[in-house]
Amino acid sequence: MVNTNLDTIDSLLHQNTYLDNGKLVNWDGKMDEVHSTISTSSEYKPTLLGTVPHMDEPTALGVLNSAVNAYDKGKGDWPTMRVKERIDCMKSFVKHMQTKRTEVVKLLMWEIGKTLPDSEKEFDRTVQYIYDTIDDYKQLDRDSAKFEKIDGINAHIRRGPLGVVLCLGPYNYPLNETFALLIPALMMGNTAVFKPAKHGVLLLSPLLEAFQKSFPAGVINVIYGRGREVAAPIMKTGKIDVLALIGNSTSAIALQDQHPYKNRLRLILGLEAKNPAIILPDADLDLAIEECINGSLSYNGQRCTALKIIYVHDKIKEEFNERFSKRVDELKFGQPWEEGVKLTPLPEPNKPAYIKELIDDAKEKGAKILNKKGGTVTDNYIYPAVLYPVNESMRVYQEEQFGPVVPIKSFNDTQELLDEMARSNYGQQVSLFGKNVDTLAPLIDVLVNLVCRVNLNSSCQRGPDVLPFTGRKDSAVGTLSVHDALRSFSIRTFLASKDNPHNNDIIRKLLESKTSNFVSTDYLL
Ligand code: G3H
Repeated sequence: MVNTNLDTIDSLLHQNTYLDNGKLVNWDGKMDEVHSTISTSSEYKPTLLGTVPHMDEPTALGVLNSAVNAYDKGKGDWPTMRVKERIDCMKSFVKHMQTKRTEVVKLLMWEIGKTLPDSEKEFDRTVQYIYDTIDDYKQLDRDSAKFEKIDGINAHIRRGPLGVVLCLGPYNYPLNETFALLIPALMMGNTAVFKPAKHGVLLLSPLLEAFQKSFPAGVINVIYGRGREVAAPIMKTGKIDVLALIGNSTSAIALQDQHPYKNRLRLILGLEAKNPAIILPDADLDLAIEECINGSLSYNGQRCTALKIIYVHDKIKEEFNERFSKRVDELKFGQPWEEGVKLTPLPEPNKPAYIKELIDDAKEKGAKILNKKGGTVTDNYIYPAVLYPVNESMRVYQEEQFGPVVPIKSFNDTQELLDEMARSNYGQQVSLFGKNVDTLAPLIDVLVNLVCRVNLNSSCQRGPDVLPFTGRKDSAVGTLSVHDALRSFSIRTFLASKDNPHNNDIIRKLLESKTSNFVSTDYLL
């Protein structure tokens, strides 16, 4: 058990069980060590946090069968259960979960280096997401508690589950983004196999018991190990109906390729992005600079929604670059629990070297580091470099850096800029800074077709979670939000009957007897 002093790890957390068919099964095979890149000694040394199972293919396939059996091709208890009963399970889970806040928040900081306020926010936001999902599901149920008469047919239309979901979350939001997939998937009656990301694994341990106690056997199953060794074989069986993944398109495509019946496989994917900020000449620079600082460097730029390139108009580039670079150098680096810290250790040990490669490549091709501290490497960090002028030949222009480096490119002609964005492989969001409506209007009209959210005078972000979160091109498949996710993880299905006395009498009896979980006009308030 991890103690609650934020800055020390007194005991290791050995997660030697996995959740299979409602049981926490002991794993006595190989274990993988979990290290934090946070060091507390004077000489740098990663901190050992604990261990997790290095599961193998046969075990993973056994766990898959638990989810397959619980779904039972749509005949299982969970997919046919009454709405109220599924909601009761979800409520029980979130209540248990709330008691684990301190442990989960501490592990978020140590495993992925997220600051204390952001870790707390991730936890609280996830709890809120679950309550909002319950409310939205009730609304969906209320809206479906009726019959529609069309061309002499009475139709009772609801949304039904899709099947067995393989759920794979990302390391940067190991709780929130994963649960934003898992919770709606379960709510709609699907069963799931969930594998945590490569970092941010132990923080799920405090929640395993909550899963176990709240849901019927086999509905939610948790495995550990490498994607190639456990997730790929699971896909190969063809027993997965939905691949729900937040990560990158390379792994999403590799997993899809394993599936033998591609037409049966639904995809719900949150993928890479390279959200630009566009700073027009009349932008409020104080505002634009602060938003670009947060947008590009909160959680060290390790957000899919992070601003990963800044386009600044020629007329204001000198002033913007100078003031922005100065602000970057004011950001405080430190341990995640320290007051006022904005930059924290990078959880991926090889990330500083990768970011340095991007910087060196850009420098070779003509960019300069504008800020004094930019590119300073330590054992677990590289101080954010502001690079200018960036061009299309540079790796930092082409690749999603997902880390602390900010490329800036200037522009003069907005039409050329739109053409450039239209050529990009990414299409999630954009931040647009300016105020003249005659300039903004034509830009907005095109930008909404290049990305899926145009943020006016603010940085890009996913939240509030009730808003649609999606992307074009390589950035996403499907739409997530509290409301949309319930639809993404379900399909419309209905009872149809010709409008005649014989059928109507049967329907009436079905409704009165309350013997069907599907055919019902009752609803929850
Ligand atoms: O990593 C991508 C997340 O969805 C970003 O969410 O904009 O709330 O940080 P956020």
